[in-house]
Amino acid sequence: VGNATRYAQGRVKVVCSFDAETCRVDVEDDGPGIPEEDWESVFTPFARLDDSRTRASGGYGLGLSIVRRILYWHGGQAFLGRSDMGGAKFSLVWPRKQSQTNKP
Ligand SMILES: Nc1ncnc2c1ncn2[C@@H]1O[C@H](COP(=O)(O)OP(=O)(O)O)[C@@H](O)[C@H]1O
Ligand SMILES: [Mg+2]
Repeated sequence: VGNATRYAQGRVKVVCSFDAETCRVDVEDDGPGIPEEDWESVFTPFARLDDSRTRASGGYGLGLSIVRRILYWHGGQAFLGRSDMGGAKFSLVWPRKQSQTNKP
């Protein structure tokens, strides 16, 4: 949500949903979005796409790698797509019932 707020032009949408098996959180914005060739690399530690904006715009490129790891620990996934609002759409999906093998 912090990333979305930083890159949005004016709108951020957060949607939480669940069904019998799965919980899901989607965070999207109306900013510039992320090119598809970077959809995996933004989840690697210290990866930042826009070095020119670096120190002014906050972090060290760790947030998304931590998010992905936490989702992994919960037997879920964090992934990236395109928002209908024009920007990036981050989705977190994880099972409501934890399987023992996924515990750290
Ligand atoms: N909503 C977004 N819109 C555009 N680019 C984004 C968005 N969220 C993340 N990014 C890109 O992914 C990079 C990594 O994000 P993150 O791991 O949270 O690190 P940080 O916020 O410290 O830069 C950001 O530096 C930025 O280049
Ligand atoms: Mg961040």
